[in-house]
Amino acid sequence: MVLAETYAMVSFLPNGDCGRPRARPGGNKVTVVLGAQWGYEGKGKVVDPLVQDADIMCCCQGGNNAGHTVVVDFVEYDFHLLPSGIINPNVAAFIGNGVVIHLPGLFEEAEKNVQKGKGLEGWGKRFIISDRAHTVFDFHQAADSIQEQQRQEQAGKNLVYSSKAQNLVSDFDGFSERFKVLANKYKSIYPTLEIGIEGELQKLKGYMERIKPMVRDGVYFLYKALHGPPKKLLVEGANAALLDSDFGTYPFVTSSNCTVGGICTGLGMPPQKVGEVYGVVKTYTTRVGIGAFPTEGRELALTTGRKRRCGWLDLVLLKYVHMINGFTALAVTKLDISDMFMEIKVGVAYKLDGDIIPHIPANQEVLNKVEVQYKTLPGWNTDISNARMFKELPVNAQNYVRFIEDELQIPVKWIGVGKSRESMIQLF
Ligand code: GTP
Repeated sequence: MVLAETYAMVSFLPNGDCGRPRARPGGNKVTVVLGAQWGYEGKGKVVDPLVQDADIMCCCQGGNNAGHTVVVDFVEYDFHLLPSGIINPNVAAFIGNGVVIHLPGLFEEAEKNVQKGKGLEGWGKRFIISDRAHTVFDFHQAADSIQEQQRQEQAGKNLVYSSKAQNLVSDFDGFSERFKVLANKYKSIYPTLEIGIEGELQKLKGYMERIKPMVRDGVYFLYKALHGPPKKLLVEGANAALLDSDFGTYPFVTSSNCTVGGICTGLGMPPQKVGEVYGVVKTYTTRVGIGAFPTEGRELALTTGRKRRCGWLDLVLLKYVHMINGFTALAVTKLDISDMFMEIKVGVAYKLDGDIIPHIPANQEVLNKVEVQYKTLPGWNTDISNARMFKELPVNAQNYVRFIEDELQIPVKWIGVGKSRESMIQLF
C-alpha cells in the first residue's frame, strides 16, 4: 500500500568521524514467538505475558487465516490480523510488509473484540500498517475457497494467497482502475465468481479513508524503534514452522515463511536485530487438512472443537524445526490435555526402509512412509490445571517436560496447564 506520507530516507544512518556510515552498537532487538509445529500451539498465550511490558508488538506474516486466542478475565479474544498485544493500551501494534490484509476483516475483527472488553478502545491510534503490506479483497477470499475445494478434490495444489495486491492503493482513482482489471481477471479464471465491482470499490473507499492515518513507511518506522531509546519489541509469528512455504511439509503449506527468516523479510530488518527466539510446542501434535503426519494416531482422541487430526509429540520434526529457527527457549503448552493418559508416546526417530534416518524427507510421499520409533513415558492421570510452579506438577509430568528439554537440548521456559492467562508455569 502506498497511502503513507513518504519520509526522507537519507539522514538516519549514523555517521562516523571519517564521514563513512558506521553501525551504532547496541540498540534494541526483537523478541520472537514462533509456532514450532503445524499451528494452534497456543502462541497467543505465550505472547500475552511478554506483551505486558512491551512497547511495540509486530506481525510479520500471515493474514486472516492465522489466529491467536487470548483469554483474559474469562473473556476470550480472537485475533487474526490484529496483534493480540493490542489488548494492552500501552502497546503500539505494527503490521509489517509480510502481512496480507483483508480490510473488511480487519475492521470487523477490531469491532468484535472492542465489544468484548475495554482494552481495545482507541486501537486505531496505536496501530501502524507498513506501506509495503499487501492487501487482498473479498474476491481473493472467494477465489481461495474455490481453489481450496479444488485442492481438496485434487489433493495436490499449494495453499497460496491468490495474489499479492501490493501498491494497489496509492491513489484511489488509479487503484480503482487496477482493481477492475484484477477483478475481471479473476472472473475469467473463476467463472462462478460473482464480483460486484462498483459496490466493492465503494466499500473499499471507506476502508481506505480509515486506514490512511495508520499507514507509514514500515522499514523506517522499525529502524527508528530498533535504534532509538530502549524499547521492548515483540514479534508474534503467524501459522507455524511446518507450514512454512520453503521448510514446511510442502505442498500443504502456506505461501509465507513462518520460520525465523520470515521475521527479517516480513518486517524489513537485519538478522542481527533478532534477539530471543521462543518456540511454542504443544505436548502433542495436531494438523488441519491433508498432508503427511508421521505420529498421527487413533489412540489420541482429543476434542478440540475444530476438525483436527491428532497425534503424539514428534521430536524428530521438532529437532528439524530447531535446526532452522535456533530457538533460545521453548514454551511447552497444553500439558493438561494429556492429564487423562496412563502412558504417553513420543516420536524420537524415523526409520526408512529399515534404517534410522537423520533428516526429514522433503518429499511428502517419502515422509508418509517413515516408520516412527516411539519412546513410551508413564502418564500422570491427574488434573494439573492448578499447578503454578514446576514442583507442583506430578513427577511424571515433570519428567515428560524434562525429557522434551533433554532430547531437544533447548531450555523450557514456560509450561501451559490450561486455557487461561494464569494457567502457566514460568521456569526461569
Ligand atoms: P494459530 O495461530 O491458529 O496457529 O494458533 P495459536 O498458536 O496462536 O494458538 P492459540 O493461541 O489460538 O491457542 C489455541 C487454543 O489453545 C486456544 O483455545 C487457547 O486458549 C488454547 N490454549 C493455549 N494454551 C493452552 C494450554 O496450556 N492448555 C489448554 N488446555 N489450552 C491452551
